[in-house]
Amino acid sequence: MNKGLYVTGTDTGIGKTLASCALLHALRGQGLRAVGMKPVASGCTWLDGEWKNDDALALSRAAAVNVAYADINPFALEHPLAPELAARDAGTEVTLLPILDAHARLAAQADAVVVEGVGGWAAPLSASLMQADLVRALQLPVVLVVGLRLGCLNHALLSAHAIQADGVILAGWIASHVDPAMERVEDNILMLQDRLPAPCWGVLPHAQHPDPVQLASLLRIAV
Ligand SMILES: Nc1ncnc2c1ncn2[C@@H]1O[C@H](COP(=O)(O)OP(=O)(O)O)[C@@H](O)[C@H]1O
Ligand SMILES: [Mg+2]
Repeated sequence: MNKGLYVTGTDTGIGKTLASCALLHALRGQGLRAVGMKPVASGCTWLDGEWKNDDALALSRAAAVNVAYADINPFALEHPLAPELAARDAGTEVTLLPILDAHARLAAQADAVVVEGVGGWAAPLSASLMQADLVRALQLPVVLVVGLRLGCLNHALLSAHAIQADGVILAGWIASHVDPAMERVEDNILMLQDRLPAPCWGVLPHAQHPDPVQLASLLRIAV
């Protein structure tokens, strides 16, 4: 582990936060001081004098080090909308520098920073900022979380293609069995393994109350 990872996914609501928290616990299991970051979060609640987001709070709970909320989540946007719209509603715009500054402060306090993206890979951060711009600036390898449900092969292959076309490293992928009704899960995982251009770091099985501490033992981080 060099400095961290950027966690993207095949979509929103498919297990990025769960996988990020499990990754944090896995890194901690390797003796690393690992912290999470959710640079841009839309959908926040006013708590203790600031806007806070559930993903960022989950990452904070999974971290090895106590760090300032504002560094975990420099852009905490109230409305659960695409960041560009949520930022406009909040009278602001998502820009690179505050994220890089917050990341640098986290990196100074940790051995590894696990950065959770927004939505899927091509979800823009602003009218002029893509997640690829952020990942190139941070120079982080990407891990793709594949939400196991019908249609995931298409979403996974398109995502992997786009990540590589954007000139960043796809270091691995993690499957998360979000949809308990999905049929032929094992066959789908095999097809993903055959086709994705990076190794599978693990499969998070479906659970009613998934526990990132337990799931950490199922991950094999290969960077
Ligand atoms: N493997 C799994 N088993 C059961 N529930 C899951 C699994 N992966 C994700 N979920 C659930 O799906 C929802 C979305 O997951 P989350 O990690 O928040 O996704 P994302 O960060 O991609 O939006 C959460 O309620 C989470 O607990
Ligand atoms: Mg999330």
